[in-house]
Amino acid sequence: MTRLASPRPIRRLTDPNRVEILDQTALPHVCRWLPLASLADAAHAIRTMQVRGAPLIGVTAAYGLALGLAQDASDAGLAAAMTQLAATRPTAVNLAWALARLHAQLAPLPAAERAAAAWQAADAIAAEDAAQNRAIGAHGLALLKPLARRADGRLQLMTHCNAGWLATVEQGTALAPIYAAHAAGLPLHVWVSETRPRNQGLLTAWELGQAGVPHTVIADNAAGQLILAGQVDAVIVGADRIAANGDVANKVGTVLKALACARQGIPFYVAAPGSSLDFACPDGAAIPIETRDGDELRRVAGLDADGQPTQVRQIPVATPVCNPAFDVTPADLVSALITERGHCPASAAGLLSLYPERAQHV
Ligand code: MRU
Repeated sequence: MTRLASPRPIRRLTDPNRVEILDQTALPHVCRWLPLASLADAAHAIRTMQVRGAPLIGVTAAYGLALGLAQDASDAGLAAAMTQLAATRPTAVNLAWALARLHAQLAPLPAAERAAAAWQAADAIAAEDAAQNRAIGAHGLALLKPLARRADGRLQLMTHCNAGWLATVEQGTALAPIYAAHAAGLPLHVWVSETRPRNQGLLTAWELGQAGVPHTVIADNAAGQLILAGQVDAVIVGADRIAANGDVANKVGTVLKALACARQGIPFYVAAPGSSLDFACPDGAAIPIETRDGDELRRVAGLDADGQPTQVRQIPVATPVCNPAFDVTPADLVSALITERGHCPASAAGLLSLYPERAQHV
């Protein structure tokens, strides 16, 4: 597959205003851009995970609102678009954050000015996300450098799910420090856990392969063995929502890695921008955890013998399944939160030291 010159999963086109997304349900096998022509298209893309990853969900929702207002910019149209987008996925707080930010800017405007203002506001969120991820990369690199003292000279990292540029606007969150370390010439290797059932680890492997970062895909169940055998120096993941006390919701399977890191005494880092912080949510127990369709678990997607995309049913329809999409890692298992403003302990005091202006939301 050709290497993407400018790795971004969403692109904004003008004349007329419209959006295209990289269809993440087709990757890593097929690289396909899809147009988002309406509010309904944007909501569908988020719900079906054609776009995914907390920051990208927020950006897509912002563009979805702009698409909706281009059709109906009345108060009722604004309210209906907000409701439709807010209902798509519950766990990543970036979605509610982006909608609330746009609503505060757009609601006071006359209806005739709302659509143009919404496009501008969505562009601003996208630009901020890209800048924040670059800052996360720099702050994360400062934490990784002291770990790079292994006998074999290679820093051994592990990540879960995909928190790279595919999940954001540029660079990613958890992968930003890895890209920064690779660019700085730090020898490293990344263990990429497959991330059943949606296999977002394969997106990470695809990204790392495109960037020339050495990596190896592992079954999710192999992570504990590698960590306890001393083959991992640090785990770094993203977040869908960080509660006021530092508890972290991220892709299901994350907490098992955090537990293994604590047992082994190695760092477990969580990288996320301010838009993933929810100061109104006191702790992890208050974070809504999305349960997705059981067919995601029952079916496996891949290429057939002729190299064509296909799906096979692995688990019989009649077998009961449960498919929680996220889990909560308690704050005491998190070594540090890495944000665009620096890193801090995963605690209320740590978060407020970096975001004092958000104290009124606690
Ligand atoms: O269900 P997904 O693929 O949207 O879940 C994504 C994750 O859990 C990511 O780790 C998280 O959103 C951080 S992305 C920078």
